[in-house]
Amino acid sequence: MDITVFLGAPGSGKGTQAKRLAQRAGFVHFSTGDMLRAAIKAGDPVGLKAKQSIDRGELVADDVMIALIEKALTPLSPKSRVILDGFPRTVAQASALDAKPSTRVAHAVYFVLNEDKLIERLTGRRICSQCGESYHVRHLRSKVEGRCERCGGDLVQRSDDSEEVVRHRLKVFVSQNTKLLEYYGAAKRLQELNADAPVETIQNSLLKILG
Ligand code: AP5
Repeated sequence: MDITVFLGAPGSGKGTQAKRLAQRAGFVHFSTGDMLRAAIKAGDPVGLKAKQSIDRGELVADDVMIALIEKALTPLSPKSRVILDGFPRTVAQASALDAKPSTRVAHAVYFVLNEDKLIERLTGRRICSQCGESYHVRHLRSKVEGRCERCGGDLVQRSDDSEEVVRHRLKVFVSQNTKLLEYYGAAKRLQELNADAPVETIQNSLLKILG
């Protein structure tokens, strides 16, 4: 398997880019945040337990997340090109991927964006309550007011996108990020990406990075 991980603060644009790469270039995309929200919606016990952590802006336990991602990767063909968005968040999660030769990470792309812009992007984000598509009240408006362009679902704010929870999520991110960057930097797998650019510009940079 050829695995790329997207690192970066909440709101740096990982999900927006990963979804486009999956649609355009055939990458298999897993977002652990989306997986947890789907589990919550389905009333799954894993999701219900994770909900408390998500709503507080805390990380879900490593063992839960490692089991979730292993289950998603196991059925894939060895030829798959995979993007993991939101995983790993800790060195324990990164080490678990590298522990098996089949899931060793090939590239880590770090989305860099300053805090003011992160807060503006997250507090202005709206997502489709049906399909999860992401929009922004200023930067990426739906062509249909208050509704998803793709499926017509209502656009809502994520429960963890209030300014108070966003600020806590950013603190949690900072507490883990340096160690993760050191982990991938030491193995020369790390590439930084300027995330302060239009969506299409970043998409083109990623297509070059990922070949
Ligand atoms: P998760 O859903 O992964 O949230 P996150 O990492 O906090 O990332 P976001 O989805 O908030 O940001 P993003 O970088 O994808 O930005 P987006 O593209 O949407 O995780 C949620 C929670 O689940 C965590 O807090 C934790 O509790 C738990 N969790 C998940 N994975 C875990 C793990 N591995 N371990 C432990 N716990 C875990 O963009 C943001 C906004 O900006 C959007 O409105 C978008 O339209 C807009 N935008 C995007 N790009 C641009 C651009 N270039 N210009 C202008 N606007 C843009």
